[in-house]
Amino acid sequence: MILRTLSLLNFRNHKKNTFNFSDKINFIIGDNASGKTNLLESIFLLSTGKSLKANREEEMIMIGEELSKIKGTVSFRAYSNNLSNNDLDDVENLEVILTRGFLELGTSVPRKTPKKRLLIDGTTKRLIDFTGRLKVVLFGPWDMNLVTDPPGARRSFLDLVISQTDREYRRCVIAYEKALRQRNKLLFRIREEGISRNQLIFWNQLLIRNGEYITRKRAEFIEFVNSANQLTDCIYQLYYDKSVISESRLEQYKKEEVASATTLVGPHRDDFRFLILNSKISDDAFDLAFYGSRGEQRMGVLWLKLAELAFIEKVAKERPVLLLDDILSELDHGHRDIVMSTMRNQQTIMTTADYHYVEDFKGIEIVNMINLN
Ligand SMILES: Nc1ncnc2c1ncn2[C@@H]1O[C@H](COP(=O)(O)OP(=O)(O)O)[C@@H](O)[C@H]1O
Ligand SMILES: [Mg+2]
Repeated sequence: MILRTLSLLNFRNHKKNTFNFSDKINFIIGDNASGKTNLLESIFLLSTGKSLKANREEEMIMIGEELSKIKGTVSFRAYSNNLSNNDLDDVENLEVILTRGFLELGTSVPRKTPKKRLLIDGTTKRLIDFTGRLKVVLFGPWDMNLVTDPPGARRSFLDLVISQTDREYRRCVIAYEKALRQRNKLLFRIREEGISRNQLIFWNQLLIRNGEYITRKRAEFIEFVNSANQLTDCIYQLYYDKSVISESRLEQYKKEEVASATTLVGPHRDDFRFLILNSKISDDAFDLAFYGSRGEQRMGVLWLKLAELAFIEKVAKERPVLLLDDILSELDHGHRDIVMSTMRNQQTIMTTADYHYVEDFKGIEIVNMINLN
């Protein structure tokens, strides 16, 4: 899978710009605040339909502007053996249009507009159908804390990976979250107004049906990561700390649930832990969050990221685009070599403020350089 071109209009600090990428290694070079992370965020938006960091999506529109457009041309490698399909080198145009909810048109009253539109080849798509066309693995400094971050960060990680390759998973997550909100409201009313518990039955079933699928897919992913052994001297394992949802578990917590007006079991309470085998200390596995050094924690994240690449390739039968945000400066020498050799296996778009990393590739690779300064 290759991102051929990217056009930005009023996207954060990018006024109007078109970038052409090579199918190998692309360096985005620029000083601090030149818009490197923003550029990767726009690609992430084309992939997931969502922002990387904005609380409100309109934060991505350039300050003082009303409309932003992000367009990407993606081509898919001939990978299928379905030869009746003539368009092997398929090209698709992905587009996201953002507004603040209205557009000023001359002197007349502002016209109401959707805040976000997602389009494939000019046709509006729902989020669930837009997501996952362009598959990416994004790796940035913020990921370095994944081991010690609160559980929500690890759940988001799981959702992001699995959602890219599984439409049914996306559907289940949306349905589950909606049912959860409704069920919690109902628990609140049972407590405050003393209404009957009967209404819970409907939401319980919805949560169980969608929740079971989410749990199963998360377990499959974690199993894959543990068996993938992306690093030769692999000493890491993930432990899936799942919160199973079932009739009996809901029954078990029914008093506490009403008292707290919250659903207490289910994948929204899931977590996973990084375990590390360190034979120097013991034959047992240690929890990386508590016992790992900072370097070991970073290494654990790198290990997981490599497994993420391999997982998407396995399921999608195509390498995703690798997006690296200033990551080399976060790693020590040995780990840098691992990342650098991985960069050669698929299209990679990497940002850096440090020109000397590019030097390491010169003479070996044909590197496409984009300067933002
Ligand atoms: N909506 C926006 N409109 C205009 N500028 C923005 C917007 N959002 C962020 N910026 C600017 O983008 C710059 C940061 O860009 P970033 O991509 O993080 O830089 P870096 O190259 O260091 O990764 C900052 O100067 C910030 O003020
Ligand atoms: Mg940055």
